[in-house]
Amino acid sequence: MPPEVYKDWIEHYRIRGLKGGDLKEISGYSHGLAQLTEEGLADITGTARDFLGLKITDRLLDLGCGAGLLTHQLVGDVESMVGLDANSEILVNAGGDSRFARVAAMADHLPFGSSTFDKIFCHSIFQYFPDYQYAVSVVGEMSRVLRLGGRCLIMDIPDTAKKDRYFNTKLPDSHNLERLFYSKEWFDRFAPNSHIFEQRIRDYDNSQFRFNVLIQR
Ligand SMILES: C[S@@+](CC[C@H](N)C(=O)[O-])C[C@H]1O[C@@H](n2cnc3c(N)ncnc32)[C@H](O)[C@@H]1O
Repeated sequence: MPPEVYKDWIEHYRIRGLKGGDLKEISGYSHGLAQLTEEGLADITGTARDFLGLKITDRLLDLGCGAGLLTHQLVGDVESMVGLDANSEILVNAGGDSRFARVAAMADHLPFGSSTFDKIFCHSIFQYFPDYQYAVSVVGEMSRVLRLGGRCLIMDIPDTAKKDRYFNTKLPDSHNLERLFYSKEWFDRFAPNSHIFEQRIRDYDNSQFRFNVLIQR
């Protein structure tokens, strides 16, 4: 089979959004090393609750929320929540849950004023950015919209140090796109004073090749 050809990852997820269906399927968690079970989901939301220290008074941004799989799980923990994604086509699948606002925008140009949020949750989107300069802009935007003393948790970041083992483990992709890998030193440099820790999500085989970063503003 010839590979599916996409302009970029955003187009890839736009097409997933247009196809619709199960939220895990749309968000890419139903095949290969990326399969996510209910236990895995509970570990992701548990990590978010613990490390962000979510409070019922918090204003929370889910940056790159996709079809809202995780947004739905966290919305009850906070006072208000916004799910932002590059694709309105994927946001449509987040359904009519009026408890969170859906915003279609790019991560490097967040349409919010400074200090709008107490917390930011960002799961599995850094690997889809076009390059590292873009990622630097996103870290800057996160810091701008986060209030002083706020926290930002970035999860599921592919680890450069584990790249070879990852490619030896996974099946070849069925498309032309490449993921961006990060070193922990990159985050030390562009998000100084962040806490970097290994990812441990039950049953999620990608987890062994990924790390998480907690930024405190
Ligand atoms: C694997 S999905 C993750 C969705 C959600 N965070 C989750 O874990 O269920 C990746 C999402 O990132 C979004 N995305 C990719 N690049 C983006 C960008 N530059 N700005 C905003 N969203 C982006 C895609 O549209 C897609 O919905």
